[in-house]
Amino acid sequence: MCDILRGKVALVTGASRGIGRACAVALAEWGATVAVHYRQNEREAQKTLSALAGEGHFLLQGDVADPEVCRKLVAETVEKTGRLDVLVNNAGIYEPLPFSEPSYDRWQSAWQRMFAVNFFSAVNLSYHAVAVMRRQGNGKIIFIASRAGIRGEANHSHYAASKGAMVVLARSMAVELARENIQVYAVAPGWVATDMAAEPLKERGDSIIAQIPVGRVAEPEDVAKAVRFLASPDADYLTGITLDVNGGSYIR
Ligand SMILES: NC(=O)c1ccc[n+]([C@@H]2O[C@H](COP(=O)([O-])OP(=O)(O)OC[C@H]3O[C@@H](n4cnc5c(N)ncnc54)[C@H](OP(=O)(O)O)[C@@H]3O)[C@@H](O)[C@H]2O)c1
Repeated sequence: MCDILRGKVALVTGASRGIGRACAVALAEWGATVAVHYRQNEREAQKTLSALAGEGHFLLQGDVADPEVCRKLVAETVEKTGRLDVLVNNAGIYEPLPFSEPSYDRWQSAWQRMFAVNFFSAVNLSYHAVAVMRRQGNGKIIFIASRAGIRGEANHSHYAASKGAMVVLARSMAVELARENIQVYAVAPGWVATDMAAEPLKERGDSIIAQIPVGRVAEPEDVAKAVRFLASPDADYLTGITLDVNGGSYIR
């Protein structure tokens, strides 16, 4: 327990499970009040809420692919707490889409859905968050990207492209907003032990681990600790960086 984030309000999207839940827990441990967002899994979101240290945390629901939901998530956070200091754009989906996909209709809809959930959600949430942060005179925006967004990923080009777009968005925003005391970062995890990665880890866990020098996939807490550091004032001067959290599997 530490109080470096006391008085700060954080909105974490996709905090019902996995990395988002771990971020919510980690930020609350350092004193932040957390808006715990989820899409449909209210039971798991409630579990996140009860795992948080401190008081004043609350749930927010909605599909972030809907731009109006993004507006509301920021507005409701500000209505409840009067501020928004940290936005963690974490909600996301991951699915295969090889270039051999036979249906052009499915190809189109999969690309559109992937970008709507993983990228445009983050663009729209950031748009509304920046307006609040500008008025406040401070703010931090953290994008949960992926190693795939940097080195690419076969059979998942739409996922990798959505994450690569996040990295460049974070860099652009960092430069544009630096003088307004708003810092923007990306975090690029390799494999993390969550529901999202459960199937590939079950099917080919040994070969995945063989490619990770530290000898294990990340736990959600490994990512959350990086996010929490970036959310703290200790990381202010690091604006624009992408922090790799991949066990040495892709060092650049
Ligand atoms: N796991 C990995 O290996 C890995 C690696 C690199 C990057 N990442 C990135 O890390 C982030 C979190 O991944 P995770 O592994 O923690 O995933 P996860 O366990 O599958 O959890 C996904 C979270 O996102 C929410 N969500 C999904 N679609 C949504 C939508 N349309 N609108 C609102 N919320 C939505 C889910 O809400 P519900 O519970 O309500 O469905 C859930 O809270 C993602 O952006 C992912 O791309 C993960």
